[in-house]
Amino acid sequence: MTYFSHLECSHCGTRYEKGVLLNLCTNPKCRLPLFAVYDISRGISRDSLVGRIQSMWRYREMTPVEDDENIVSLGEGMTPLLHAKRLGELIGCPSILIKDESLCPTGSFKARGLAMAVSMARQLGVSKCAIPTAGNAGGALSAYCAKAGMEAYVFMPRDTPDIFRIECEYYGAHVTLVDGLITDCGKIVQERKDDEGWFDVSTLKEPYRVEGKKTMGYEIAEQSGWRLPDVIVYPTGGGTGMIGMWKAFEEMERLGWIDSRRPRMIAVQASGCAPIVKAWQNGDEFSEPFPNAQTLASGLRVPRAVGDFLVLQAIRESDGRAIAVSDEEIVEGVRDIARAEGIFAAPEGGATFAALRNLLEAGNVSPKETMVLFNTGTAYKYVQNLP
Ligand SMILES: Cc1ncc(COP(=O)(O)O)c(C=O)c1O
Ligand SMILES: [Zn+2]
Repeated sequence: MTYFSHLECSHCGTRYEKGVLLNLCTNPKCRLPLFAVYDISRGISRDSLVGRIQSMWRYREMTPVEDDENIVSLGEGMTPLLHAKRLGELIGCPSILIKDESLCPTGSFKARGLAMAVSMARQLGVSKCAIPTAGNAGGALSAYCAKAGMEAYVFMPRDTPDIFRIECEYYGAHVTLVDGLITDCGKIVQERKDDEGWFDVSTLKEPYRVEGKKTMGYEIAEQSGWRLPDVIVYPTGGGTGMIGMWKAFEEMERLGWIDSRRPRMIAVQASGCAPIVKAWQNGDEFSEPFPNAQTLASGLRVPRAVGDFLVLQAIRESDGRAIAVSDEEIVEGVRDIARAEGIFAAPEGGATFAALRNLLEAGNVSPKETMVLFNTGTAYKYVQNLP
């Protein structure tokens, strides 16, 4: 059963009924992301979670899918929150935790968002989905479309490591390599989708991927005994995970599951592509397209994100920060996590530890604090690009 009530624009507040296929807010002056709103008047007790399925679907009422038979699942979510004791010793922090999303189906946290988007697409009668991707989201869409018997059209930059394309093709997707960045891939989807009959599942241009990603916030709370950490360090490209977790915290407070305390949300970007960092430093509401975007952490190579203002809001409201790290620091972070913890983290995951070193040095976090680092994917798919 779902408590999903309706959709609402995250910027202008326009209300939309559910049961209709929508992308962005249709107000021509707005065109910003829509959020699912839930009627929680019937409530859910934390205790009722005991014994439920060990996947993100344990928070079933707070997911938008109407009918259980439309859920397309490969077992995503409920990933481990591991105490990184030896990693912490390297920098004198006893309470570092790693949320290890590399264990999700297709090897990244993109599985959560795409499981939700494909389930909702099925609910709403879609048969063809199209996606611009830095790599991981394309693999996840292809896998869930295979499971759902739907067609996937994937657009990725030509210089994405081969494995990402090969995986999609094995899942039966139609892959197009694009000379350009994820934003160029997004433009192609935008231009062709009406003629081709594709539903555009670009992150945050589609209302439900964020509903999958938000379950990371629910899980961190549940796995920490309903006491959120002091700091969350999250590698930010499109920012959907950060936005989703921030939404989850608000929902959980309304449900009476947590109090009003929030972690400081730290957005980590690569110095070769840091539009959010720049906007945060300038105190801007929106970001500017970042010129000549380049980094080996391909998930962070997003020169302009449609949900940038929501990421910036979460950072500001939580008294957090945005920080950039170099590709050299990222690789060092991957190596540190691998040697200390036995986790072969994606470069995006490595970036979080690199950022934490810098934050500690600058006195922005205290060694005594409890910090959750997000390893958002597996390094197996990136070996071609690792030195
Ligand atoms: C491994 C990995 N980490 C992080 C990101 C960025 O995620 P988000 O769009 O939620 O900021 C991506 C996006 O492609 C990714 O593949
Ligand atoms: Zn709007």
